[in-house]
Order: sequence, then structure tokens, then C-alpha cells
Amino acid sequence: EKSRDLSEEHILITAGGTREPIDPVRFLGNRSSGKMGHALAEAALARGARVVLVTTASHLSAPGCEIVPVSTAAEMQSAVLTRLRSVTAVIMAAAVADFRPAHRAAHKISKSEVLTLELVRNDDILHHVVAQRSPGTLVIGFAAQTRDVLEEGRRKLREKGVDAIVANDVSAADRGFDADQNAGYFLTRQQETLLALSSKRVMADRILDGLRDLAANRTI
Ligand code: PMT
Repeated sequence: EKSRDLSEEHILITAGGTREPIDPVRFLGNRSSGKMGHALAEAALARGARVVLVTTASHLSAPGCEIVPVSTAAEMQSAVLTRLRSVTAVIMAAAVADFRPAHRAAHKISKSEVLTLELVRNDDILHHVVAQRSPGTLVIGFAAQTRDVLEEGRRKLREKGVDAIVANDVSAADRGFDADQNAGYFLTRQQETLLALSSKRVMADRILDGLRDLAANRTI
């Protein structure tokens, strides 16, 4: 059994795909199931951390952690930012919609030959987390890529100001979105670690090993 090596940490984890409403019965979504974020929560709890899980997949069980159910990117953003001051680390495994419909129709949109939806940009939650975090709060982002996984992961590590990026390939059926397994790289400014194909629960522990090492080198 793993030691309680994260007992000093209070970790906020995001999980699942956001849903951006079009009308009362339709939404724009993505294929994220929430499994990766929930596996991280389970693994962190087993290692003694306090966990708050901001999730669109609150139907997945997560005994022992504080669950904050959300649906849209805007809800996820305010749930994360209002809790940022009380946590020591943030892991952003959620797939957040980059766009939402500019207008939410009050009534079900009726059939037509062509329907044009106008979309507007959502905020980048990770950007606000990095800007608003207290000194010492560790931030780990994900990078979901369909090609050039390592190169794109390195670029996101540089550009987003995070402490680490988990870069994963989401183009294969046996890993990434909705699969029970995942694989990728854990990238920090000091190290690049290959995360071999494994269950999401095993990969979660490898990511938390990386978090533990970053925490050991905190300067504050
Ligand atoms: O949920 P599962 O089915 O288990 O699948 C897991 C997963 C494939 C969703 C997960 O491993 C993963 O890759 N999550 C990130 C998905 C994603 O949207 O990546 P991105 O490269 O578009 O975003 C980069 C980072 O910015 C992510 O940490 C994301 O949470 C964050 N982001 C993105 C957009 C936005 N508006 N705000 C954000 O904070």
C-alpha cells in the first residue's frame, strides 16, 4: 500500500467535459467521461490528501472527497476560482469547452434546413488559476493532443506558466477520452517522464508522484 505521502496537501481536481447549452434540451459537449479526474481524486485520497473534486460527472463515485457538481465552463470556472485560496495544488483534468453558444434559446429550437450557431470564446480557466494562485500553490494542467503530443505538451508547459503538464494522446480508442486506460508524458521544467499505457488509476499515481516531487522542491 502507498504511504500517506500527500497528507500535507489539499488538492483541487477538475474532471469531466463541460456542457454548453444551446436550448433547453441540447448542448455542445465533448467525450470526456470524468474517469481520469476521478481516478486522480481516488489516488490522492488514498495517499492522505484532502481533495475537492469539481466535476461534471458527479454520478461517478468518489467516496471521501468533497464533490462540487458543475455543468458549464462558467460554472467550473467560478467553482475553481472561489476555492483557489484554500488549496495547495490544482490538477486540471477536465475537458473545458473553448466556445459556448452566444445565445441560449429560451425554447427548443425547431427544425430547419440549416441552423447557424454563433459561438463565443470561454475563458481559459487555467490561465486565471495561474494568475490568481497564492505563492507555492502547484498547478498541473493537461494537454489533450491528436498529434505531436510531446512537442505540444512542451509548448503548453512553456506558455501556460504551470508547474507541470500531463500531455496525452487522444487519437486512439484504447486511451484518453472515455477509455479505462491512458498514457502520455509528465512534463516539468526539470524532467520529462514517460507515462506508459496503464489504467487511469495507475497513471493517476504516477502523476501524483510528480506532484509529490514538485511539492518537495517548493520554495515557499
Ligand atoms: O475524462 P476522461 O474520459 O477520463 O478523459 C480524460 C481526458 C482525455 C479528458 C484528460 O486526460 C485530458 O486530457 N484533459 C484535458 C482535456 C483538454 O481540454 O485539454 P486542452 O489541451 O484543450 O486544455 C489544456 C488545459 O487547459 C487543460 O488542463 C484544460 O483543463 C485547461 N482548459 C482548457 C480550456 C479552457 N477554456 N479552460 C481550461 O482551463
